[in-house]
Amino acid sequence: MCGIVGLVGETAAAPRLIEGLRRLEYRGYDSTGVATIFDKQIAICRAAGKLINLEGLIEKSPIYGNIGIGHTRWATHGVPSSINAHPHATESVAVVHNGIIENFSSLKSMLESEGHKFCSDTDSEVIPKLIHHLLEQGHEPIEAVAAALKKLKGAFALGIIFAGYENLLIGARRGSPLAVGSNEKESFLASDAFAMAPFTRTVSYLEEGDCAVLRPGITEIFDGKNRTVNRISHESEHDEEMANKSGYQHFMEKEIHEQPRVIRDTLNSYYNSSGGKVFLPNNSEDLFDFDQLYITACGTSFYAGLTARYWMESIARIPVIVDIASEFRYRGSPLNKNGTALFISQSGETADTLAALNFAKNHGQKIISVVNVAESTMARESDLVLPTRAGIEIGVASTKAFTTQLVALACFSIGLAMRRGSISEKDGARLANLLEQLPVLTSDLLKNINRFTQIADELSEVKTVLYLGRGSSYPIALEGALKLKEISYIHAEGYAAGEMKHGPIALIEEGTPVIFLAPSSPLFDKTASNIQEAAARGARVILLSDQKGINELDGLIYKSIEMPEADEFIAPILYTIPIQLLAYYTAVCKGTDVDQPRNLAKSVTVE
Ligand code: M6R
Repeated sequence: MCGIVGLVGETAAAPRLIEGLRRLEYRGYDSTGVATIFDKQIAICRAAGKLINLEGLIEKSPIYGNIGIGHTRWATHGVPSSINAHPHATESVAVVHNGIIENFSSLKSMLESEGHKFCSDTDSEVIPKLIHHLLEQGHEPIEAVAAALKKLKGAFALGIIFAGYENLLIGARRGSPLAVGSNEKESFLASDAFAMAPFTRTVSYLEEGDCAVLRPGITEIFDGKNRTVNRISHESEHDEEMANKSGYQHFMEKEIHEQPRVIRDTLNSYYNSSGGKVFLPNNSEDLFDFDQLYITACGTSFYAGLTARYWMESIARIPVIVDIASEFRYRGSPLNKNGTALFISQSGETADTLAALNFAKNHGQKIISVVNVAESTMARESDLVLPTRAGIEIGVASTKAFTTQLVALACFSIGLAMRRGSISEKDGARLANLLEQLPVLTSDLLKNINRFTQIADELSEVKTVLYLGRGSSYPIALEGALKLKEISYIHAEGYAAGEMKHGPIALIEEGTPVIFLAPSSPLFDKTASNIQEAAARGARVILLSDQKGINELDGLIYKSIEMPEADEFIAPILYTIPIQLLAYYTAVCKGTDVDQPRNLAKSVTVE
């Protein structure tokens, strides 16, 4: 977690560090800080809370210098406070850190025994203290960093500057992402190329164990064995439009409304509309010969995996095991020899998913990943990437990343099914044609917003909401509950509708809102029975169904949202839109911080 940025150039660093941090705030917003070198000394400014607090402080007491580092924090060790905020520094060195130093206790004891004093509760503070200690022993800055890195255990991306050195910025990575880039007169590093986009579009990504030495306009990269290396440079695709809300109140709202377009973009990566056919990347034939598939992910991406299981098992006839990444590698699960494992992630940097991916790789699995950030670590570590084309997602609550993951996974399921002969080409074309209807269907759903705001007004007053669905609506119920929890802070539970009677029904009392996702399908009648059971216990049933479903249950329903009639293959994608809108407008009604909900961060790069 956390975002770091650094630059060395010929003009004032602080305003540009702030601009970079604004673009990294999605990675954490518990505190922020910047450090520069001015007049040979380290100048630091740090503030608890969001970037706006730091900006206020810098406005009152500007900090000068043309070299600097900045940090936006998601707290792991130590409460969110200005003392625990980065940069951490001594009089000779300042450091920003993303990751966790696992052996910080033993390093701290060693350094304390040498007379060094610590001020914060963070693990990160050992890094500048250790480098300072090595500088005191006579090492030059680059050597001191190299020696310090050898002693650190855990994950890190670092930005480091030194008192008395106005042209030297060092970056290093192990486990956490770090990009570097230069223009004619300046050099930059950042956790994400998006933070550097206003200054340079040409970026390279450090690899595991790499270290970068940045001077104005020059970046040198060294690998873990201290050999000079070239890392491929990429033109980053980020444009200014991505960094603003384009007239919407929140990024989340903007991202919900982008779905018709990004669903189309993603579909275009797998579907040839003139040929009417889904295609799989054809350079990876041997990757598709598996008899069972492991799918692993976290949070919303995990729910995309749960949804994909319904498609893969029903149409491709492949048994699928879906697991939460933080559980998968500790379960001691026996993995098939030469099997294939699929990982799903928006960021491609989630530490739990990445660790699970490496575990699978080390156990001989071939790796497929569904990833939104093309340059991410997960994408680089995979044998095959199935891209989603959601574009940058800034709202912490995932929306367009989820629906595009579903589209990619639906296409993958069709492609596999045809390849294995479990469906005919004609059936494959029929399913692909259903997916092709999604941009229009989702766009229509986004037109009549009033019907969501009215229900959201009521939801904003309650303490608990249940989301229930059967079949592939079940993972969407889980996603609905997660969305509501994370942005409105209302307690919500998602359950398989048939499971309600085994426990959660005890939560229902007079007036409890229960949201049922019930598209017309062979399971509709079963869900209808569960609706009867909930209504009989006083639940306010909110039904998401098509007109036929709503008519059938008239009399039992408190409120309904009419959905278009949809084939059950695409229903989970379509029914995601209303559950996003309900969560969004409930949060707006409550006045919570929709894009940056409390305690969360967009990309969870610690285990
Ligand atoms: O970047 P990833 O898809 O790997 O992230 C996984 C989860 O952290 C993420 O989906 C999280 O649950 C979102 N906040 C959900 O809205």
